[in-house]
Amino acid sequence: MLHGGDYNPDQWLHDPAILAEDRRLLGEARCNSVSVGIFAWAALQPAEAVFCFDWLDRLLDELAADGRYAVLATPSAAMPAWLAHAYPEVRRVERDRRRRLHGARVTFCYTSPVYRAKVTELNSRLAERYATHPALVLWHISNEYGGECHCELCQHAFRQWLRQRYGDSLEALNRAWWTAFWSHTYTAWSQIESPSPLGETCTHGLQLDWQRFVTAQTIDFYRAEIAPLRAADPSVPITTNFMGLYPGLDYGKFAAEVDVVCWDSYPQWHPHEPAAPLYPFATPDWWQEAGPDALVAADTAFVHDLYRRLKGGRPWLLMESTPSVTNWQYAAKLKRPGLHLAASLQAVAHGADSVQYFQWRKSRGASEKLHGAVVDHVGHEHTRVFAEVRAVGEALARLDEVVGSTTRPAVALICDWENRWAIDHAAGPRHTHRDYLPVCHEHYRPFWRRGVAVDVLDCDGALDGYRLVLAPMLYLLRPGVAARLAAFVAGGGTLVTTYWSGLVNESDLCTLGGVPGELRPVLGIWAEETDSLYDADRVLINAVAGNPLGLQGSWQAALLCDLVHAETATVLATYGSEFYAGRPALTANRWGAGTAYHVAARCEPAFTDRLCAALLTQLGLAGVLPALPAGVSATVRSDGQRDYLFVLNFAGSERRVDLAGRTGQELTGGQAVAGELPLQPYDARVIRLD
Ligand code: GLA
Ligand code: ZN
Repeated sequence: MLHGGDYNPDQWLHDPAILAEDRRLLGEARCNSVSVGIFAWAALQPAEAVFCFDWLDRLLDELAADGRYAVLATPSAAMPAWLAHAYPEVRRVERDRRRRLHGARVTFCYTSPVYRAKVTELNSRLAERYATHPALVLWHISNEYGGECHCELCQHAFRQWLRQRYGDSLEALNRAWWTAFWSHTYTAWSQIESPSPLGETCTHGLQLDWQRFVTAQTIDFYRAEIAPLRAADPSVPITTNFMGLYPGLDYGKFAAEVDVVCWDSYPQWHPHEPAAPLYPFATPDWWQEAGPDALVAADTAFVHDLYRRLKGGRPWLLMESTPSVTNWQYAAKLKRPGLHLAASLQAVAHGADSVQYFQWRKSRGASEKLHGAVVDHVGHEHTRVFAEVRAVGEALARLDEVVGSTTRPAVALICDWENRWAIDHAAGPRHTHRDYLPVCHEHYRPFWRRGVAVDVLDCDGALDGYRLVLAPMLYLLRPGVAARLAAFVAGGGTLVTTYWSGLVNESDLCTLGGVPGELRPVLGIWAEETDSLYDADRVLINAVAGNPLGLQGSWQAALLCDLVHAETATVLATYGSEFYAGRPALTANRWGAGTAYHVAARCEPAFTDRLCAALLTQLGLAGVLPALPAGVSATVRSDGQRDYLFVLNFAGSERRVDLAGRTGQELTGGQAVAGELPLQPYDARVIRLD
């Protein structure tokens, strides 16, 4: 298990005493790795023809001597001033076509040949010097790639990318983008411009292709960055740190390019407004009892599960997390005592083989001087935060046998970036709260609170091995997706879809001949219209008596209600109000050996919870532990021989967990466990099951 974090000795080179102290403190904090060089370009290459590696040589040698690892970064994320001034083309051009000045970070043009050449030169030198260094465990490429550039070089690259996509046919592009609308028809490739508030804002196909291009071009830049590293020693693994659910890059595509995936996790623990994530509904009793941190934990678990799935279940790395506070959240709440261990082990519970931080030592000046760190400005180890970090280090040291193990869920939830982009582009039927990600979370939480493992995957992910697949708001259908979902159901799988499915194709062109298009046969419904509700409006939904899922009672729906016809599907619940009272709200369609369910409206969480529970019962699927108290999570990692149970209490008050006859050895505490497990607030236990 790696334990450590971002370390910026390049900010302290003038003060060797600090660097010596860091070496001692790393041991005190039980840290076995540091990520270095991330923003060190100016220190490594102070002038165009001057390179300076002696400080990094010394650091890596000391790390190796102390038995620690280096996660060594390529410093492309922040360019030195001399470079920005000598070669203006390396500076990004924004959507409004203004070129940036030097400053901030991740402001480079990813197409610029000069920038690529300079990065290649420095990366080559780093590779030659350190690829076989005993401290080097992993290359950390750049930092949090993101954003986009609209310079002429990028416009040209975009047009080239489009020519390839459309087989050099402008006619094919015009048709895919529906450019006859408002006279947008292109008659030369050179007329095509990336999206801008000053120009193209209404061609959805262009916007979608631009976002695809941004991912492709970022990956292209990344490939240029790693070429010298691979050439020097292909055995050193490579990663780049992703940003959770960052909308700007399709991480499903990017993940194929890295050896191990990692992400930077900064949940807003101890939130002020627990009801907000459940908008527009009130918080159900169970979540009230679980407390606000439980919702944060559930939504963070969703992201962890997405990252585990990006590499088909292989362990991933938590590359950054804060040991205490961030400096960018609305209010910098201190992590309550114990929460740091629970939050750290939560990542491990969901497949991480590391806990790393931003940052090791607080910088003295500039914009992150007040961001949490392991070592505070006070400079010593006698702080509350340092003690919590050491506790994580001690726990991780006992978890080495967990490294490499994983989780194989029976439940999958589809969360797809291109689908998300298309939903965000749509104009109508609501201007706000189309809410794709919140709706994905709503369909994940019922499983989290029952200790049922879930994989989060995009539409391209293989569905073999799953019993239940949920695909909420599958608005955009890429070619082949509907066929794969239908094959999954035909083979005995259970599928759940919702309102706003199958509306557009991969070019964002509307489905002709009836929504949900290619999904229509497997779902057995036709969605004729969508009613958009005012925020406070509610529509009733009533279970049909004697329905096969055993649902009983009424629920509320809000925001979006599809008016569907059951074609071959059976109706399990109907609308209970509005002019569409009596029309289907929940349907089930037998298809081959399986069943496809369709929920016609944005339903309150209590409904989604009840539906998911009924499906689990029907499929004979249960959580790791049968009766989890509110706010406690349970997950298992397995290496095929041994099962490791993680029980974490996010409730903020004491809980008792029934181990349901399971026994084991606690790895974090050392003792045998059986019967009932008492949990303090934010308690985190890891048990090797017998
Ligand atoms: C990101 C960056 C870090 C740091 C942290 C602060 O994750 O990668 O360099 O700025 O945010 O939370
Ligand atoms: Zn550019």
